[in-house]
Amino acid sequence: MFSLLPQEILHTPRLTLRPFRMEDAEANFQNWDSNPKVAEFMLWDPSKTVADSRERIGEFLRDYTPEQGFYVYAITQAGSDEPIGCVMLGWIDSDHHSGELVYMLSPAAQGKGYMTEAVSALLDFAFGKLELNRVQADCFLRNPASARVMQKCGLLYEGIMRGLYLGKEGYEDLFVYAILRSDWEFKKERESKHV
Ligand SMILES: CC(C)(COP(=O)(O)OP(=O)(O)OC[C@H]1O[C@@H](n2cnc3c(N)ncnc32)[C@H](O)[C@@H]1OP(=O)(O)O)[C@@H](O)C(=O)NCCC(=O)NCCS
Repeated sequence: MFSLLPQEILHTPRLTLRPFRMEDAEANFQNWDSNPKVAEFMLWDPSKTVADSRERIGEFLRDYTPEQGFYVYAITQAGSDEPIGCVMLGWIDSDHHSGELVYMLSPAAQGKGYMTEAVSALLDFAFGKLELNRVQADCFLRNPASARVMQKCGLLYEGIMRGLYLGKEGYEDLFVYAILRSDWEFKKERESKHV
């Protein structure tokens, strides 16, 4: 029977993914949460003060919990406890065993493959431990870096949802990508043969 598991800390070669804590507010604000270049691709506004960042963490801890079908992670680099970004698996549908991904990273940390690494670890949790059947993600058409992360993590292009969100630039189209459990198992098997 499907069950939502407690959140566990995830490790990759270069990163640790752990739950947020209220004490992360200052670092979140400095690193990604106040940055308009990050918020440009999100449906939320950048935090204007550290108090806003604290409030965002409060929301994560209150309204986006594993019991509610959300696994929200702070991304930290090995040897540092400071969050440089956020990745979440959420909107988990317990009847249909599906979920969605959202992620964002400090501009200073972008372009190093970190998000590919973080999302891959979360997919391993989603399929290997939670036993989901489908994980999907979407991004604005004007966000090719995000689409590329999805591709590199094994998500397949499914199409375009036209005018889905009223974003900062008006109604916007989104690319949809998804990976099924069978895709993930195939990818893992192929990777294990190439090590
Ligand atoms: C999208 C985002 C998470 C990517 O994080 P990242 O750690 O830099 O991603 P990675 O380094 O793992 O991979 C990025 C890939 O996109 C590619 N890329 C970057 N900018 C690109 C562009 N303008 N056009 C095409 N590809 C681009 C990179 O070359 C890389 O692909 P490669 O390894 O084949 O060269 C980061 O840019 C970000 O936080 N952006 C702002 C928030 C956001 O857009 N969140 C997603 C909302 S859907």
